[in-house]
Amino acid sequence: MVGRQRTRNGLDSLFLSKQRSLGGGSFSLYSLGRGVVCLLFAFGALYVVVSGAWWSRSPQAALRSKGRNIGYSLDWISLRAKQDLMARDKSLIGMLSKSIGTKSKPLVVDVGSGTGALRRALAPKLPRDVSWRMVDHDPKMVADLQRRYGKDQVVDADMAHDFSYLDGADVVAATAFYDLVSDNWLDSFVAHLPKKSIVYAALTYNGKETWEPSHPQDARVMDMFQRNHHHLNDFGMRLGGKAASAMAEKLKAAGWRVHTKETWWAIQPSIEHDLAGMLTEFHRGAAVKQGMDASAARAWASFPRDMIRVGHVDMLAFPAE
Ligand SMILES: C[S@@+](CC[C@H](N)C(=O)[O-])C[C@H]1O[C@@H](n2cnc3c(N)ncnc32)[C@H](O)[C@@H]1O
Repeated sequence: MVGRQRTRNGLDSLFLSKQRSLGGGSFSLYSLGRGVVCLLFAFGALYVVVSGAWWSRSPQAALRSKGRNIGYSLDWISLRAKQDLMARDKSLIGMLSKSIGTKSKPLVVDVGSGTGALRRALAPKLPRDVSWRMVDHDPKMVADLQRRYGKDQVVDADMAHDFSYLDGADVVAATAFYDLVSDNWLDSFVAHLPKKSIVYAALTYNGKETWEPSHPQDARVMDMFQRNHHHLNDFGMRLGGKAASAMAEKLKAAGWRVHTKETWWAIQPSIEHDLAGMLTEFHRGAAVKQGMDASAARAWASFPRDMIRVGHVDMLAFPAE
């Protein structure tokens, strides 16, 4: 036993120094110690393998390898598209179509394209020779756009820090994008707009909502939802419901002639159950984040509604002559 003890490495000798015979020598503290160490190594190795696999599939890994998972779900984007289509102001689309009809092969840059709903809504109303550049930075949106429209028409750019995708644009178009951005970012964006470009900004959320029939907590939940909107993101402090008016002011100051129309989603939960459900859940989650008691928020969310209206602004701005 002593001979073996001398030949062992440092780790084993830790246990050898404590070696005792148990029950007549067939089972020793030494062998118990070795067993424990082996088990620890086995668990350690398992942990490294499992956590490595998790890490390589985790959202963080997606950010490292593919860009940023910005957070909009494809479900939300596709559910809202139908309401967006109905709400878009037709007179502004008519004006846009007429004015770009005078240009040859106009380039429309769709910023924050998502899956390309704006293109699907507008293309039938615009001249046939329009070309498209669709910009997003969420890997799942970029992949979806490339699948639908091919790689050449899609630009993966982080618009929070890059304006190069605006180069050569005849129309800078967007749906439901500007309420994400900050006042400072809007200043830079307007400064980078090609001077002769038309700006079409549809469905910018304006913070007005009505839920019918009303619930006693509606005003509180709406207030919390608005407050939750004003958080820091990559663009700076998010403008939320103030974005459309800020954008109109900045475009006017830079010489654009701005037309705006208020546009409304009108959602009947009995028909558009999934969209109403997601919208309700966004509000409930925001209210809880802002400090509402979870059971009060659940009671608010489960209150049956016949109609939910959500206000937006559509904007069309023409450059100085
Ligand atoms: C509310 S969604 C609107 C999508 C689309 N316009 C529509 O109507 O379905 C906002 C879009 O902006 C994109 N976006 C957000 N931050 C971005 C960034 N920093 N760079 C590029 N795209 C961004 C999101 O990935 C998302 O597709």
